[in-house]
Amino acid sequence: LRVLVLHGPNLNLLGTREPEVYGRTTLQDIDQTLVALGAELGLDVQCHQSNHEGALIDRIHAAREDGTRFVIINPAAYTHTSVALRDALAALGRPFVEVHLSNVHRREPFRQNSYFSDLAEAVISGCGAAGYGFALRYAAEKLAAITR
Ligand code: DQA
Repeated sequence: LRVLVLHGPNLNLLGTREPEVYGRTTLQDIDQTLVALGAELGLDVQCHQSNHEGALIDRIHAAREDGTRFVIINPAAYTHTSVALRDALAALGRPFVEVHLSNVHRREPFRQNSYFSDLAEAVISGCGAAGYGFALRYAAEKLAAITR
């Protein structure tokens, strides 16, 4: 069962980017942890990061045909700006969880709008890197219920 994990712009800098906000865990650490947890849970986890809106959209389009059953996405700054990325996920029609490392609701007002949350199965915001693991465990439960 394939789960696609998508990371938006600037998340390649995790570890050194505003560590007081986003923590010291690198993106590579996050992805490795998710792949290992996925193997335990019987999930094939594919991770992809891009700083480019169109590249993220192309990856979501590819997910229509590559067996992706569930998406975990941190759209990063595109959370607050991208109707195009939202539309791509709507077209994909697979359940997804929106993850943010920081609690966007206790930050600047412009971070409080998300173009994704009303389409998402769930939103995890403020749990740091652990939020991705929670999302993957949720995906495992959800997929087990569907495929049972
Ligand atoms: C973020 C929150 C966004 O507002 C910000 O633009 C990011 C990261 C988070 O994970 O907390 O780049 O999505």
